[in-house]
Amino acid sequence: MTQRQLLVTAALPYANGHIHIGHLVEYIQADIWVRFQKLRGHRVLFVCADDTHGTAIMLRARRENRSEEDVIAEMREAHLRDFTQFQIEFDNYGSTHSPENRELCKTIWQSLVDAGLVREKEVSQLFDPVAQTFLADRFVRGTCPKCQAANQPGDNCSKCGSTYSPADLIDPTSTLSDAAPEMRTATHLFIQLEQLHEFLNEWTQSGKCLQPEVARYLKGHFLSNELRDWDISRPNPYFGFDIPDSPGNSWYVWFDAPIGYMASTEQWCTTHGGQLDDWWKNDRAEIHHFIGKDITYFHTLFWPGMLKTAGFNLPHRIHIHGFLTVGGEKMSKSQGTFVMASTYLNHLPAQVLRYYYAAKVGSGLDDIDLNPGELVARVNSDLIGNIVNLASRAAKFVQGGKLAEVYPDDGGLFAHAAERADRLAELFETRRYSEAMREIMQLGDRANKYVEDCAPWILRKDPGRADELRDVCTVALNLFRQLVVYLSPVLPELAQQTNRLLNVPIRHWDDSQVPLTGTAVSRFQHLMKRIEEKQVSAMIEESKETFAEEQANTSVPAYHPADTWKDSGDALVNEPMSSECTIDDFVKVDLRVARIIEAGHVEGADKLLHLTLSLGGGKTRSVFAGIKAAYDPESLVGRLVICVANLKPRKMKFGLSEGMVCASGTGGKEVFLLSPDDGSVPGQRVH
Ligand code: 2FM
Ligand code: ZN
Repeated sequence: MTQRQLLVTAALPYANGHIHIGHLVEYIQADIWVRFQKLRGHRVLFVCADDTHGTAIMLRARRENRSEEDVIAEMREAHLRDFTQFQIEFDNYGSTHSPENRELCKTIWQSLVDAGLVREKEVSQLFDPVAQTFLADRFVRGTCPKCQAANQPGDNCSKCGSTYSPADLIDPTSTLSDAAPEMRTATHLFIQLEQLHEFLNEWTQSGKCLQPEVARYLKGHFLSNELRDWDISRPNPYFGFDIPDSPGNSWYVWFDAPIGYMASTEQWCTTHGGQLDDWWKNDRAEIHHFIGKDITYFHTLFWPGMLKTAGFNLPHRIHIHGFLTVGGEKMSKSQGTFVMASTYLNHLPAQVLRYYYAAKVGSGLDDIDLNPGELVARVNSDLIGNIVNLASRAAKFVQGGKLAEVYPDDGGLFAHAAERADRLAELFETRRYSEAMREIMQLGDRANKYVEDCAPWILRKDPGRADELRDVCTVALNLFRQLVVYLSPVLPELAQQTNRLLNVPIRHWDDSQVPLTGTAVSRFQHLMKRIEEKQVSAMIEESKETFAEEQANTSVPAYHPADTWKDSGDALVNEPMSSECTIDDFVKVDLRVARIIEAGHVEGADKLLHLTLSLGGGKTRSVFAGIKAAYDPESLVGRLVICVANLKPRKMKFGLSEGMVCASGTGGKEVFLLSPDDGSVPGQRVH
């Protein structure tokens, strides 16, 4: 079999929320696919990353009064913990807020510009004057213009169902600050997707990369009409990367998110030795994206369009799946069915969910339903009653001993299951995991029947039948191991336990083809436990409680500066942010803590005070500061301030000024000196 080179991605989770069991439908199925391909001996790279940009993360950082980077770092840790515990093993887990991603965004952007695909257009959008940000539809509420229902969302009315734009709402308010939004106009950058129409038509309809229903959906909803320009920029403040040559604008999160797949690949190449182009500009490499159906549009139109324009590989296949429902209903926080990954793990083992999802996933876009009763019954009967049962009924009679030297006659059972390998591989390859699980369980039934018929527990009572007993156990344990080979992409922990029990590691899919003989059998240790309904109920109960706590905490308004801090945003409007500076620019300015040791009026100057600053160790600076209207000189003596210590001395009418003290404010009485927190001492540098 020729070795394939596969780059596999799972959708990048947003850095503003925790992983829940809905997300896991995707991560588990992608991980199964990757493990399967690795087991087949292919060269596989499985990458993912946190999706960090956008308004939501910016607002959360503001609300929690910390930097976006801080929020991102905390969430990354939580995401990685969840993935590890669910045995989801990425080869690299990156971040869209990474230098690699910034550079790749620039490269791809330049290609789009060079290809003439980018154009500017004015966009009018509601703006929150308090939160100082443009408002996406979901952040505006107001009275429905059609039926007058109060407090309706920005895009459609939950009472009469009519759709509108947020500007049509009567008395709109911003959900961020409760302020009345204003209509403002800003220049946005758009990608003219229509120019790629022919290519996208061909690519999506080729029958190779997309499920047929997806190709039909794209044809029906988008490709049969002119493709609309894609608004790719957002005016600052927006947490993202600044667009080169477009001051004040960042790329929209959905521009840099898929590029994050490449950035994560690049990181892996840096740490493992390799070239990005080996994966992204190489005819032999296949790119496989796993995504949910809600983000089809971005991955099947924009993304291939970007890749094509920038000369990268197109996706080989996009594997699109449905959503998770629980008990036939949408996941609901109040019902306790919106279960976080970490909550799940407080009650049930990861492998249970891995198996249950595998038993439900098919190649289509249908939603999959987690039915608590079925979950318990299915896992107990398939994994405990069928697979694990095979090992537990045989291993204890040979533990500490060896398997038979020659594989005994098993009536063709091993050979039969070995023959199923190709069919099972085909089912894994095409993501028809549920069919694969069914077939594996049928093989398990046959194997169990063999054990039942041979009844090793009876053989062991007769010392004269020891060889027979060893033969029966050899068959049973080999049939067990063979099924574990097939199941190992789904149940990596069970595979490891089996390796420890039978002392020959499962390394390849073809380990299903040859029985073990003459090898040692370790002491049998419990493999998996039956699960009970009450574990599931407790998990749902805990989720409900967590939600109730969240509700209680957020009943204090989360970010309502209008009610709490009343930060108007005028300061930023009056004095807009300067253009970006580098860390190198910043370190040129040597800011130091200084103590004011003398302060006095300056004869003939109506705005200035003369300050003598001590930097400690007898070093002083004489400074003239325009703070007379705001401060009495006496009140200043002894206090610590921040000064620019390496400012070139400047000759003034009243003498030489050897630095500057830092202050904010508009001038006159509105001047506010900066001071360091307690503990800081003169001479310390401000970093
Ligand atoms: O829908 C989401 O959760 C997005 N964060 C997925 C991004 S996938 C990729 F394009 F980056
Ligand atoms: Zn209405």
